[in-house]
Amino acid sequence: MKKDFLTLRDITRDDLEVILDLAAKLKRDRYTTTEKPLLGKSIGLIFAKSSTRTRVSFEVGVHELGGYPLYLDQSKMQMGRGETVPDTAHVLSRFLHGIVIRTFAHSDVEELARCASIPVINALTDEYHPCQLIADMLTIREHSGRCDSSVKLAFYGDGRSNMANSMILAARLTGMELVISSPEEEAPRADIIQGAPNVSWEPDPVKAAKDVDYFYTDVWVSMGFEEERARRMKIFTPYQVNEKLFAVAHKDAKFLHCLPAHRGEEVSAGIMDDPERSLVFDEAENRLHAHKALMSLLMK
Ligand code: CP
Ligand code: NVA
Repeated sequence: MKKDFLTLRDITRDDLEVILDLAAKLKRDRYTTTEKPLLGKSIGLIFAKSSTRTRVSFEVGVHELGGYPLYLDQSKMQMGRGETVPDTAHVLSRFLHGIVIRTFAHSDVEELARCASIPVINALTDEYHPCQLIADMLTIREHSGRCDSSVKLAFYGDGRSNMANSMILAARLTGMELVISSPEEEAPRADIIQGAPNVSWEPDPVKAAKDVDYFYTDVWVSMGFEEERARRMKIFTPYQVNEKLFAVAHKDAKFLHCLPAHRGEEVSAGIMDDPERSLVFDEAENRLHAHKALMSLLMK
């Protein structure tokens, strides 16, 4: 595997299998294993944006692997008042054994990884959220027995978001059939979608739901895009995941969401809270197992 995990372009299909197999094993053995691959190691967790799942699962994950997690609020670091990304990378490489970072510009994470001698994991940028997709693919594998071309996934809402971008890369890696249903003005980025015959864009939400195994959606206003709220609420309204769309899909179709969710916006309360259809809390739990697998492979 490469030193860093910044997008799903950094891993191969074989790497993905290794990560998912290890995540499944760590999940199974969570309370019985005595292995501590991060024993004696310190992992910095830099956050410039809010987080519940990512922060808690990485902190708990480092602890369970025997390491020491340091939560670093980016706004309270010197980086928050102008220290350069390269200087931060050089300094942290002298103290730590790995960095997990959630920030705004993806280019900052690339620069940090380039300048750091220790592994860097992207815990969300404006453009990508690869850790989330590892947990999502683990969840799909648990429920369908596989995560490959036999699975059809439909993503509704912002086709240019960090989630949509990462989902397209996940489809490229696994061969999953992915349809992105979004309005034209937020259609998937050509540079990410092009050359992927298993990924399509369908502006009609009902057409996109045909034969779907997994519905996926995300907030209509991502962190950092708050000033676009009024425009976004308007254009995404037809793309709510709800009972009407489930009626067109496979009868045992499931619902996924990276969370946090807004009931009545991107998903109806009925679907979000349907214990038969909604896998969102299994999916959230899988963040822990996925992150432990990633850190075991990259930082031990
Ligand atoms: N899905 C996700 O990344 O959640 P948090 O923003 O709570 O970390
Ligand atoms: N697209 C969302 C994902 C949150 C986990 C955001 O960036 O805010």
